[in-house]
Amino acid sequence: MKSYNIAVIGGDGTGPEVVREGLKVLRAAAAKFGFKLNTTDFDFGGERYKRTGEALPDSAADEMRKFDAIYLGAIGHSEVKPGILEKGILLRLRFELDQYINLRPVKLYPGVACPLVGKGPEHIDYVVVRENTGDLYTGAGGFTMKGTPHEVAVQSSVYTRFQVDRCLKYAFEYARKHGKKARGKGEHNTLALCGKTNVLTYVYDLWERAFHEMGMKEYPDIKREYYHVDATCMWMVKNPEWFDVIVTGNMFGDIITDLGAITQGGMGIAAGGNINPEGVSMFEPIGGSAPKYTGKNVINPLASICAGAMMLDTLGESAAADAVEKAVMDVTAHKLKGLGAGKMGYSTTEVGDLVAERI
Ligand code: IPM
Ligand code: MN
Repeated sequence: MKSYNIAVIGGDGTGPEVVREGLKVLRAAAAKFGFKLNTTDFDFGGERYKRTGEALPDSAADEMRKFDAIYLGAIGHSEVKPGILEKGILLRLRFELDQYINLRPVKLYPGVACPLVGKGPEHIDYVVVRENTGDLYTGAGGFTMKGTPHEVAVQSSVYTRFQVDRCLKYAFEYARKHGKKARGKGEHNTLALCGKTNVLTYVYDLWERAFHEMGMKEYPDIKREYYHVDATCMWMVKNPEWFDVIVTGNMFGDIITDLGAITQGGMGIAAGGNINPEGVSMFEPIGGSAPKYTGKNVINPLASICAGAMMLDTLGESAAADAVEKAVMDVTAHKLKGLGAGKMGYSTTEVGDLVAERI
């Protein structure tokens, strides 16, 4: 029997609660589809940091490389200054494991209330390919004269052609395999670059040139579009059905995927994968640790369950991944009252049961 070794980082707040339900569902899928999941827990998070003063042991990335995938709950603790855990755990793992793609599907499931008037599941079904290693996230910058009236703060958006090219390649390939045409839902597969070429005339100039060069040479079958990031936000609200696959830099990708998430029902459902196509990838709900709901059994585990489905897909268990997604869709369509914490009509564990019993 095939088996996969999964590193599990429950993390902070509601992270462990949602991961528990995710694993419940993944185990049901494994039993049904004939594979095994061996899980190993890691205690990275705010509590460990408070106890040891260390966000992540230096050996963590090497340790993680021994696994087939990482399943993460949430990072962020109310008693730890913002930035320490995010940079010290989440971003550090993304960087050290070179998870250069952050794949974030924006898909409205049946029965989910959408805040966009007149839009349904047929309108909201696209994917954002967020570059995950460069941009404002590299830490390039600093202060001078800190604390004085003349203080200067600089934080730079940094991209290399190599980073841009490998991200674009992934996005074009993704569009070819999973775009609207490939899914029988449109005339062509489309990749839209989201940038800001009218102001960020270096970084997004590089992106735009690389985008068209690669598209013209290697992906003539894929329709190319370009949108400025501000306009992208507008169209994501007004005409989300225009989008198929969007590719963008790290910072814009961070921002537009929160917007995308709210159009698909919010943080209770939105999932993502930090992907290293040549290495080990890490799957997580895109929302945070939700401290105020911690331990109350009210948080929505569907985002974590959907992240688990993405993990199965990446491991090559696509039938099991589809089964998990179908089960989630059945639960949103026929069971849940809402997706917000405490508003589902069911507890966290009950939602996990509902999905698991449908596999
Ligand atoms: C996300 C989060 C992170 C990010 C934070 C917590 C560092 O917002 O995964 O989108 O900015 O990437
Ligand atoms: Mn974010």
